[in-house]
Amino acid sequence: MAQSKNLHATWSSQTIFVLAAVGSAVGLGNLWKFPYITGENGGAAFVLVYLLCILAVGLPILIAEITLGRAGQASPPQAMANIVRKVGGSRLWVFLGINGVLGGLLILSFYSVIAGWGLAYFLQSLQGNFVGMDAQGAQNYFDQFVASPGGLVFWHSLIMVATVLIVIKGVRSGIERAINIMMPGLLVILLILFGYAMTMPAFSQSFDFLFQPDFSKLTANSILVALGHAFFTLSLGFGTMMVYGSYLPKSFSIIRATLWIVVADTVIALLAGLVIFSIVFDNGLTPGAGPGLLFQTLPVAFSQMQFGWLLGTLFFAMVVLAALSSAISMIEPGLSWLEQNWGIARAKGAWWLGGGVWFLGLGSALAFNLWQDVTLIGERDIFESMDFLTSNLMLPLGGLFTALFVGWVWSRQQRDQQTGMPPSWSGVYTLVIRWIAPILVAIVFVNNLIA
Ligand code: TRP
Repeated sequence: MAQSKNLHATWSSQTIFVLAAVGSAVGLGNLWKFPYITGENGGAAFVLVYLLCILAVGLPILIAEITLGRAGQASPPQAMANIVRKVGGSRLWVFLGINGVLGGLLILSFYSVIAGWGLAYFLQSLQGNFVGMDAQGAQNYFDQFVASPGGLVFWHSLIMVATVLIVIKGVRSGIERAINIMMPGLLVILLILFGYAMTMPAFSQSFDFLFQPDFSKLTANSILVALGHAFFTLSLGFGTMMVYGSYLPKSFSIIRATLWIVVADTVIALLAGLVIFSIVFDNGLTPGAGPGLLFQTLPVAFSQMQFGWLLGTLFFAMVVLAALSSAISMIEPGLSWLEQNWGIARAKGAWWLGGGVWFLGLGSALAFNLWQDVTLIGERDIFESMDFLTSNLMLPLGGLFTALFVGWVWSRQQRDQQTGMPPSWSGVYTLVIRWIAPILVAIVFVNNLIA
């Protein structure tokens, strides 16, 4: 296997690495999924469990993934090969990297479809088309929107082209430049929306909903959902954080960066939740509306609010920025592999991969209309099957084997040398990465298999 000969790319600063990783972590998972699963699972008690999962499982595996990337200094499959060559272990660990490459591409195929909805809603809102719309109108609009195969394919295509155009330029002139624009934009919009939400009468109700736990609302299933989401929201299990870690110069502190990433992702999810639930409660809407919360419920609220046109447009702009900065991180593991291992020029690789993902994504776009009745895995349509296969099966497997590798194949000393972890933490970390994280993830995985 070619050594990492083409790998000269490094982040230009620690801050930009943290921003890019936060850009990957913050996405539809935070803005679309977190609010609706919190709504469905009864609010604050679920949030508390989610926070525990982030701390006990997400944070340690995030450290593990970034460290593997930096130690391997190459795309995920090669990074694993490089590491086992050095510290011993089976060549089969390369499959951990390959699982990541494939998983990232598969996730992107349907993620891009939903990101496309965000883009369409942004433009609709910008044109003032939601002004004065009532609940029935918003519902009809959504139903008609997803019923159009041409429309969904069009928006999906735009997102894929944008993703390819960003990554094609490489780490510094592509990813970094885009991140430097998108992340400040996202944060400013979120703060404006948050400032507005604080002035709403329902803000305190929204706050209580997210932070006043009522444990009677918690079910065993909510705990599994919370753990699964902790993985998804931190972009774990699929080599994303590994490949971003591989661009990290040796002098940067992994631990400090990781803490920033986790705090930023969590705070952004909570702020977005506060904004969304303030709007929901203020308009007498229900928090448990499910996946349609963002696209069916919010436009109604925006249509009736003062400055709703502006706030709605900003909101959907934020969704697009968050989704794009995640999309580029899903294609990067595969792209770096084509580039570094197979010697394929970045531009060519990006178009081929983007084209392949686009093609796969057609199935997910058509699952909402023409191919509504086509089922792949069990009773799931194509979109749901892709989500199930990646989020529920491949992703926990990736996380599980990442934890097992770092916990059991690496010696503690080798590991600490890579992470630069203070000795006082190292014992706790060993316990968590060897036992706690793998056991919890295995439980989720087995439950997903049965479900
Ligand atoms: N974390 C992103 C979100 O919350 C999604 C994401 C990006 C992701 N890269 C990933 C999820 C890799 C799993 C694996 O929307």
